[in-house]
Amino acid sequence: MVSSESLTILKIGGSVITDKKADDGVVRVNEIRRIAQEISGFKGKLIIVHGAGSFGHPQAKRFSLNEQFNATGSIITHLSVKELCGMVVGILNENGICAVGVHPMCCMLADNGRIKTMFLDHIYCMLEKSIIPVLHGDVVMDNSLGTSVISGDQIVPYLAKQMKAGLLGIGSATAGVLDDKGSTIPVITPKNFENVKKHIRGSENTDVTGGMLGKVQEMLELSDSTYITSHIFDASKPGNIGRFLKGEKIGTVITHEQYECRS
Ligand code: IPE
Repeated sequence: MVSSESLTILKIGGSVITDKKADDGVVRVNEIRRIAQEISGFKGKLIIVHGAGSFGHPQAKRFSLNEQFNATGSIITHLSVKELCGMVVGILNENGICAVGVHPMCCMLADNGRIKTMFLDHIYCMLEKSIIPVLHGDVVMDNSLGTSVISGDQIVPYLAKQMKAGLLGIGSATAGVLDDKGSTIPVITPKNFENVKKHIRGSENTDVTGGMLGKVQEMLELSDSTYITSHIFDASKPGNIGRFLKGEKIGTVITHEQYECRS
């Protein structure tokens, strides 16, 4: 098993790489190409997790996957986001990045909507051989519910905790976490969360996995249990993914109370 001290995990939101307003999968190929170019110079160990956007949310909603088990709907949704993953991986490889799709449906089990177990040995091997694993929000088998929709926002902190990641980024289509006036909230900690929570703007598109508030909650739980800091930033702005990968502090920093004293 490799040491994963320098592991970076980057989530690229579905609103960046797809038209999230569409009723069915509409991909933004040029955005994926730009992102691939920004990633291409990165030398460290990297896991990419992408969102589903219009390749998952409308399908999951159509079949009410958050309310009831539906085998056909689960498979249609899974196949749709898998298709998006194929396009992302294809473009990464065209840009000289060795990347391979790792579909959560095939290596993860959930219980009541939360990740219970995940096979990680192959991911460690990929990292050791400089292959970038590309995961994504998906529909996975669930012990209690049959299947459940698992967001990339849940996968990122799960992997970060299990694999002890050093750097964590959530690239969305807004300049970090915005308040009700549209300004970026610079730092969120468990201490100020109750106060900022009521001002966090929701998603304007179909989102079955909790939108921005869901992301913040996942990252806060992680910082509380591990002290790992994450950054929510605008990945649709050219250059930002590159800046994040260089370790720059951008967007909203989600961290433990100690952050302000330590930085
Ligand atoms: C959603 O994944 C998964 C499905 C709807 C199948 P995400 O929650 O990570 O997707 P985005 O980033 O919001 O589009």
